[in-house]
Amino acid sequence: MNPLLILCIPLLLGQTGPAPARRQDPLARDPYVQNVTPTALSILWETHGPETCKIRLRSLVTADSWEQASGPGEHHEVRFEGLVPSSRYEYTVTTGSGPVTDVVRTAPGPMEPFTFLVYGDTRHGHGIHRQLVRVLEFDQASFVLHTGDFVDDGLKKSNWYRFFTISNPLMRRVPLYPTVGNHENAFERGLELYRRFFAVPDDGPQPEVVYAFTWGNSRFFVLNANKPFVGAPQTAWLRTQLKEAAANPQIRHLFVSVHHSPYTSGPHGPQQELLDSGLVDDMRRYGVDMLFAGHDHMYERGRVDGLNYAITAGGGAPIYYIKHNHPYSLVTEPTYNYARVVVQGDLIEFSAHRMDGSLLDYVHLRRQKPARDMPPRIEVVREYRKEAPMVPATPPPTPPPFSSMRPDPVSPGNDGFPWLFTGLLAIAAGLAGLGAWLGHRRRRR
Ligand SMILES: [Fe+2]
Ligand SMILES: [Fe+2]
Repeated sequence: MNPLLILCIPLLLGQTGPAPARRQDPLARDPYVQNVTPTALSILWETHGPETCKIRLRSLVTADSWEQASGPGEHHEVRFEGLVPSSRYEYTVTTGSGPVTDVVRTAPGPMEPFTFLVYGDTRHGHGIHRQLVRVLEFDQASFVLHTGDFVDDGLKKSNWYRFFTISNPLMRRVPLYPTVGNHENAFERGLELYRRFFAVPDDGPQPEVVYAFTWGNSRFFVLNANKPFVGAPQTAWLRTQLKEAAANPQIRHLFVSVHHSPYTSGPHGPQQELLDSGLVDDMRRYGVDMLFAGHDHMYERGRVDGLNYAITAGGGAPIYYIKHNHPYSLVTEPTYNYARVVVQGDLIEFSAHRMDGSLLDYVHLRRQKPARDMPPRIEVVREYRKEAPMVPATPPPTPPPFSSMRPDPVSPGNDGFPWLFTGLLAIAAGLAGLGAWLGHRRRRR
């Protein structure tokens, strides 16, 4: 065999790389909290084989406690209802592998301020994702919104197990609200696992994928950018939802999350169908405070005809470059990032941060209470200017340096490895080797 071809074999084998080390943890998915309301919450977990498990919830404020059994089965999802708003509860999940305990908090009522975090596009960037989870975990926010592309392949259970292992330090205490990305929705079949692993309200036009939830004085709407918008059920649904929420005196802020942004400076470009559907105009009409998106792996914030948008898609997937220079785009940075939103009455303090928590951007917005039958107005109180940067009024806590944080139970494996690039390189090297060998044979004849 030609020596060149022999040289290529390790490269070809290298495409797949060494298998990630097996977790020592006995559960396929450790317990995590989902679908939290002021009076209810769900705890989910998965055992390696069919098991009957026990879960106990105990109020840390009163003497109340509840116990439920789950199973026999591998996937477990238990909901507790009749709880008290903004109260702490301790849960203990007991499986054949022993008990797991943590503390969660119910959602607040409409008068209470709260903080939430936004990040997205984690995919195979496990090392980055793990570091980001530690920063987010340190913040102790009320919940997390993910803008989509959790994993490389939504059909592969192993991808999801990795995601849940890395994000468990955060998700075991704080609910994560998912936005479906193109990587979850491979040929629609990926949604089976997505629906099983996330528990969110299921009364939207595409149950557990297109949905809405309320937190404090804010209403959140999550869309599916893999599905059509023009004349589609999710468009009609959101239109009605926005109208109802705008008329509700207890709702002071509206947020939308969709994986593909209608405005972007990144290489993927805007989601034209969403613009064509007229839904973005409705967001303006009903006074959506901010639209969150992912997909273009970078950070961006802008404003188009009064509608604020932010792309936070730097959770681990390879970072893109800034392709366009749109006048509506106010701040862009191709970097790993997350956003943080403090909601206090009519005011929202939005800030964006790099991996180490350093400030990248901020804007403070106030939603003007409209007079009857008048459209709401989102006033910019102050915002980041490159020439005069200012510190936000409520900065996030500074996370400790990564080196001082506790060790991670997951093997580093092949974190953030550029698989596609390596695979193509290996195939090219293989073809070059084959060509050289055939040429060599022809010359010998
Ligand atoms: Fe992505
Ligand atoms: Fe995407």
